Amino acid sequence: MSSDPFMSQLAAGLLPEIGGVLTPGPLAELAKRRFLFFTGKGGVGKTTTAAATALALARSGKRVLITMCNTKERLSSVLGTRPIGDQVMECLPGVSAVNIHPGLALAEYGELVLKVKTIANAVFGNEYIKAFLRAVPGLHEWAMLGKAWFHTTEQGPDGRNRFDVVIFDAPATGHGLDMLRVPNIILEVAPPGVLRRDAQRATEMFRDAERTGIVVVTLPEEMPVTETVELVTAIRGELKMSVLQLFVNAVLPPIFSDEEQALFASRPDLLKLRAAELAEQGVESALVAGARRAVREQVQRESLRRLFGELAEAAVLFPHLLDDASTRRGTERLAAVLASAEVAGRPVKPG
Ligand SMILES: Nc1ncnc2c1ncn2[C@@H]1O[C@H](COP(=O)(O)OP(=O)(O)O)[C@@H](O)[C@H]1O
Ligand SMILES: [Mg+2]
Repeated sequence: MSSDPFMSQLAAGLLPEIGGVLTPGPLAELAKRRFLFFTGKGGVGKTTTAAATALALARSGKRVLITMCNTKERLSSVLGTRPIGDQVMECLPGVSAVNIHPGLALAEYGELVLKVKTIANAVFGNEYIKAFLRAVPGLHEWAMLGKAWFHTTEQGPDGRNRFDVVIFDAPATGHGLDMLRVPNIILEVAPPGVLRRDAQRATEMFRDAERTGIVVVTLPEEMPVTETVELVTAIRGELKMSVLQLFVNAVLPPIFSDEEQALFASRPDLLKLRAAELAEQGVESALVAGARRAVREQVQRESLRRLFGELAEAAVLFPHLLDDASTRRGTERLAAVLASAEVAGRPVKPG
């Protein structure tokens, strides 16, 4: 069990101030799900924390698949592996990944439904049909989400599930909700048949909190917290789904005491735009850097207090990785935090 010094640093100051505690790690709860849906605004660390979750789950003996949606993939750098393409590949022991291409996924799906590859190719390779399919609302999105869902139903040669957990790294287009709305749209437009039947089965799984867990990733900053509160409220309200976990990424351990914070507050000149330029001496420029850090810590504390005040979901705080961001080593550190017996955050609500 790793005990990241980050957690004791937070326990000493930040946690009590924001209404957080040291709480049992969430890995066992995450491991019970067949499907983990990672959502949140772009740049908050969805891909990074999804990779860390996959690593931690694989270590605990699960076979994990990470699915991405037709993205300029960063996962391979986050995991330190070969580039990840549109075919499922095992990139680390127990961790497979695929960058889903909607056109390919649709053709694959067609092949499953139509049974014969040549017919499927003729149908899905046809330009008119492609143009027609592009016009069906939500179909390309469904092709990606549906493929991810399909992998939860897939069986290996031994008759066991090929993957214990499928992680869906949702695209960040617009509101994080878009992807979760897709099965409902397909249910509305699809004629009775295989597509509709699958969309129904997938929707049932997504709505089943025992099988599907929604993980909302955010940052301890003003805008991301505001957007997260909106996102979670919409997931509960419009979609009538529940959020399993909040992941608060890139938290800075506080380094200044209250007195030091007050000291910086008494020197607003240090935060002026040209302060760094004007600080010729080493000491003065260190003061400028310190003042900026003090402001970040203050924003972080306020944002987290608001997040915890407005939402009651279980939460885990992940450390800021500084120089280790986007490296295997950094991802391992986050995975170790997830797998530890105790994490900084907030427990799952009882009941
Ligand atoms: N804990 C962290 N500490 C520092 N930087 C991080 C952390 N997590 C992610 N990052 C950096 O933030 C950026 C966005 O991360 P990424 O996981 O790609 O976000 P998303 O998938 O939500 O767009 C990347 O440059 C990544 O290296
Ligand atoms: Mg991403």
